[in-house]
Amino acid sequence: MKQQRRLTNKRVLVTGGSSGIGRSLTLQLLAQGAHVVTTARREERLSTLRLPGHLNNQSACYFYKAGDITNPDFRDKLIPYAIDQLGGLDLVITAAGCGAIGSLETMPANTFRSIVNLDLLSCAELVHASLPHLKNGNDPAIVLIGSILGYCPLPLHSAYCAAKAGIISLAGSLRHELTEQGIDVLLATLGPTETEFWDALEMGERPAWSKGKPLSSEATCQIILKALEHRRHEVIPGWRAKAFVLAARHTPWLMRFILSRLTTSAPKTFLK
Ligand SMILES: NC(=O)c1ccc[n+]([C@@H]2O[C@H](COP(=O)([O-])OP(=O)(O)OC[C@H]3O[C@@H](n4cnc5c(N)ncnc54)[C@H](OP(=O)(O)O)[C@@H]3O)[C@@H](O)[C@H]2O)c1
Repeated sequence: MKQQRRLTNKRVLVTGGSSGIGRSLTLQLLAQGAHVVTTARREERLSTLRLPGHLNNQSACYFYKAGDITNPDFRDKLIPYAIDQLGGLDLVITAAGCGAIGSLETMPANTFRSIVNLDLLSCAELVHASLPHLKNGNDPAIVLIGSILGYCPLPLHSAYCAAKAGIISLAGSLRHELTEQGIDVLLATLGPTETEFWDALEMGERPAWSKGKPLSSEATCQIILKALEHRRHEVIPGWRAKAFVLAARHTPWLMRFILSRLTTSAPKTFLK
């Protein structure tokens, strides 16, 4: 049996580093002495992670490159930049993401494509471009950030649910394909988490179901990194998220019944 994975000195690429999960993961990895390249579009946000308070672990190194992760030209520059700065790649974490709330019918024509592009395609394509480097990495792994909504399609969330269902499948396929090459794959299936996610929606308003008691992004990321150290295949932080996934997997008929009551009787109650 393999030993627990050590995160100290790991060479890591994290997407979505300017806020929420990607930012918390970057800070926690730096605190453990990892060397991190992070990316997102807002360069000024990425630059604040370099502040001395964030880099109090002497061995940690921090670099960033700003850009749009859905742009293939940017990704073509990002991987060589990460290899140049870090000298190789041991971990890739895909935390960039965005949602859109509204029926497919009322969405602008390109919204579905744009959400799936960011939340699924850019993750798969980044992993694809990283694989030649991960193969030569030190105890390498990939972390894909999924959602409980990947297990249970909600009305008014079609693009996001489709993308996150795709992430579950991608993680499953990659796990089979990469085990023999010594690359671990961790799927982090998140429920409501305190981040800027709902402020950054591409369209629509924050739905009522999401307004419960979210888990903090710090606690969520501690759980994700522990799961990575323990070589888990999937982690679902928080009991609410675990209960949701359990119900979606084992009593889908009950979930369908509840959702149909919420949406057919009064579609607006789902949002307000
Ligand atoms: N928060 C939740 O309740 C929740 C629940 C389940 C799953 N998740 C998942 O967790 C992941 C992280 O989201 P979060 O909650 O941390 O939300 P967040 O605080 O809004 O962070 C999203 C990150 O993605 C980056 N991003 C968005 N579009 C991008 C683009 N085109 N190119 C490059 N970077 C881009 C944003 O940076 P810039 O704007 O600077 O580019 C930001 O750093 C997502 O995959 C999300 O689906 C979140």
